[in-house]
Amino acid sequence: MQSPIRKKLLEAFRQANGEFLSGQALADIVGCSRTAVWKHIEDLRKEGFKLDAIRKKGYRILHTPDRVSQNEIHLGLNTKSLGQTIYYEETVPSTQKLAHQYAQNGAPEGTLVIADEQTEGRGRLMRNWHSSKRTGIWMSLILKPQLPPQRAPQFTLIAAVAVVQAIEEVWDLHPEIKWPNDILLNGKKVTGILTELQAESDKINSIIIGMGTNVNQTIEDFPQELHSIATSLAIEKGQMIPRSRLVQKILEKLELYYEIYMKEGFSPIKLLWEGYAISIGKEITARTITGEIKGKALGINDDGVLRIQDHSGHIHEVYSADIEV
Ligand code: BTN
Repeated sequence: MQSPIRKKLLEAFRQANGEFLSGQALADIVGCSRTAVWKHIEDLRKEGFKLDAIRKKGYRILHTPDRVSQNEIHLGLNTKSLGQTIYYEETVPSTQKLAHQYAQNGAPEGTLVIADEQTEGRGRLMRNWHSSKRTGIWMSLILKPQLPPQRAPQFTLIAAVAVVQAIEEVWDLHPEIKWPNDILLNGKKVTGILTELQAESDKINSIIIGMGTNVNQTIEDFPQELHSIATSLAIEKGQMIPRSRLVQKILEKLELYYEIYMKEGFSPIKLLWEGYAISIGKEITARTITGEIKGKALGINDDGVLRIQDHSGHIHEVYSADIEV
């Protein structure tokens, strides 16, 4: 975990908004000696930050590296709780697996587990999730809502709305949602969401929301079998995207919608979600473990369950399936 001094130092630079801060001012803000400040600044440089240091003026940050460790995410993060505690690793088997361990050991609400690479990234239905080094955002967020476990599937939809809006606002791209957890750009998957639970029969202990977003991959970075179904933000936008900015924005949006959801329930989220959903009102095929359902997607109910009307008029409630539009 990141040291509290480092966190305060980065927050001071963020508030200074590109202006110089003297060594003494920094020492006063973070509550340590000027020598300690200087040491932290040297460490930041080693991590790829570029800092100006001018006599009698002090320091300012000129460039933040495209990394997703605590430093880059905390510099500019505007949340009260989500992402305030971050565990970053360069390489892990799966952030999801690690987040389960942290949750079990009492990690606070809003804890984020993030890595630059996953060697055993997991998707829904026990599929692999391709997570190559420094190209995407592989992260798992721990929430601890006081709710019954049946409400957990709604969190996939809250997260989907947050990710779509983050991508829209910062990069002016217009993703769509394919129920329940796929975020698509031009029909190809850019983000997948995996919501898992630690719960007792009547209450949630922790929800782990795993989010994988393809950010700076070129098409060659994906294995051949994904070429026709996966894309990245960089491919769609035609430019590299700073990953930490997207992480910040997702956390900010998620915090907003999580608060709305806890105060007002699922209805406002449902409305937003339906506005982004590609399948609603269309003829679709849902492949479930018990077979195929063909029909018109009517929408989702208050549990986030997909309702499909088949050709005989019967309405099916689908909890888990692969959808073809
Ligand atoms: C899916 O679409 O099937 C869900 C994919 C979820 C992938 C993310 S990446 C971060 C977290 N760690 C994992 O191992 N999986 C999730």
